[in-house]
Amino acid sequence: MKGIILAGGAGTRLHPVTLAVSKQLLPVYDKPMIYYPLSVLMLADVRDILIISTAEDQPLFQRLLGDGSELGLRLSYAVQHEPNGLPEAFVIGADFIGDDSVALILGDNIFYGPGMSDCLRDSRRDLDGCVLFGYHVSDPERYGVGEVDARGRLISIEEKPVRPRTDRAITGLYFFDNHVVDIAKNLVPSARGELEITDVIRHYQRDGKANVVDLGRGFAWLDTGTHDSLMDAGQYVQVLERRQGVRIACIEEIALRRGFINAEACYRRGSRLTKSGYGEYVMDTARKHMETRLTSPVDTSSEKLREMVGLR
Ligand code: G1P
Repeated sequence: MKGIILAGGAGTRLHPVTLAVSKQLLPVYDKPMIYYPLSVLMLADVRDILIISTAEDQPLFQRLLGDGSELGLRLSYAVQHEPNGLPEAFVIGADFIGDDSVALILGDNIFYGPGMSDCLRDSRRDLDGCVLFGYHVSDPERYGVGEVDARGRLISIEEKPVRPRTDRAITGLYFFDNHVVDIAKNLVPSARGELEITDVIRHYQRDGKANVVDLGRGFAWLDTGTHDSLMDAGQYVQVLERRQGVRIACIEEIALRRGFINAEACYRRGSRLTKSGYGEYVMDTARKHMETRLTSPVDTSSEKLREMVGLR
């Protein structure tokens, strides 16, 4: 499965903050916003990722994330020249997707919750059609809204309905099989003049191939679209991180845990950010990982590792 992070748009609702910098590069507490959707794809074991942004912002994303090799990823970049809607991602990314399936995540969507990685990996297994992630909200009229039958099959979907039929928002994370590329290529713009993701999904729904996984009450799906919601998201992350001493969406930690990189590579990344608590956390994560290896009965330690964690 390939992954696409759509990080385009002018972020007009956050002006003047986003006049000179992409919304998806703004901080959500201690890290840039794009770390959060990137970490979701990594948790789903997606390692080939295309980042789509405006032309002006592309060099900034490249400066931040490079080619991804330090994280055991393969990152590539493409430009969306006009905000023509989410499905254009599949047209821009057609060659990148090839004949594979694809996970699309919006660059401003933040997900956090127990069992997230299992949920993602279960959902991509045997993908036939598409999988969407539902979330109950108090303001469904702001989102794509989906009705679902008892088996989790989507029965209707509407984009920002004035009178929503349900309070289940369809979040900005979508798993599609390869048909999505052809569907997107043949889509016509809606009355708003944009290609709509809900129109893509409706194709699958008509074939009975759109499945919805509801993210339960323990999950957080956070909005970052306005100054207040961006601040709330930052505070949510701050509260959890300070209380538990863990970091949410720490891409080095996830890369290490998923086996994309080894502890040495993780430690090296952290050591370049030592002045921030973030770097300390990354180094500490690597250190703990090494210690577990060094004290385990099947000890495959190297002298270098021992030296790094101070066991010599
Ligand atoms: C888009 C989609 C909408 C979805 C939302 C999730 O809306 O069109 O269906 O629920 O993302 O964030 P937008 O936020 O681009 O208006």
